[in-house]
Amino acid sequence: MEKVTGTVICQKEIEADIFDLQVRAPEIAAQARPGQFAALYCRDRSRMLPRPISLCGFDAEAGTIRLVYRTAGAGTREFSALREGDALELTGPLGNGFPLEEARGRRVLLIGGGIGIPPMLAAAWALAGEPAAERPAAVTAVLGYRSSLFLAEEFAAFAEVAAATEDGSAGTQGTVLDALRENSLEGDVIFACGPRPMLRALQTYAREQGIACWLSLEERMACGVGACLACVCETAETDTHSHVHNARICRDGPVFAAEAVVL
Ligand code: FES
Repeated sequence: MEKVTGTVICQKEIEADIFDLQVRAPEIAAQARPGQFAALYCRDRSRMLPRPISLCGFDAEAGTIRLVYRTAGAGTREFSALREGDALELTGPLGNGFPLEEARGRRVLLIGGGIGIPPMLAAAWALAGEPAAERPAAVTAVLGYRSSLFLAEEFAAFAEVAAATEDGSAGTQGTVLDALRENSLEGDVIFACGPRPMLRALQTYAREQGIACWLSLEERMACGVGACLACVCETAETDTHSHVHNARICRDGPVFAAEAVVL
């Protein structure tokens, strides 16, 4: 996929070490789907591999994308210094995205944990924009935080929102599953993104409850473009080409049916 040069529209730190970056990149915005990501290149050429960051939002008409990410090393710290008008090289949209058609007419639970929350906002926005006949019967966002509820207010425009915090400062004290149970939330379909323990717990929960479930494993990506092989995950079935039990999250995912992956 070709690199494009985007232009930074604005950036702000919305929470300690979490940045909200808006970029004009019409080629990416025109094709984007929720659950996909962009790979951002550093200016510092000593850092060759791009950094994958999920799409928190996109607007094909305006030609813009929104990336909400946590600084986790030198590459993302470089991005956090970007200001209005700066150029940024990136590729995208990458990955498969959530199968939103599975939510049609059903009660959907959008579950995000930590920095897995931003892509769920893109999903909530896209579901709300579907034609009336194709929308879910209900959309509930269940969001798991350490403490501060970043993006939660934006979800409220598109979904019922239940939050969980580790420190109990807001919502349910505990995990997203604790919030599901405490609020007696039910759904027919789960779309989720977050840390692996959360995804593993949801995989079990969905199996026990007989709920269709798709998990985004994007936290396990490194280069995002198939170059580093750091993202391989174990799959339940063998792949038809190599006959091994694995998949590259950046190429075959990042979204997988819960029963298709071993977590
Ligand atoms: Fe590098 Fe998938 S993240 S190959």
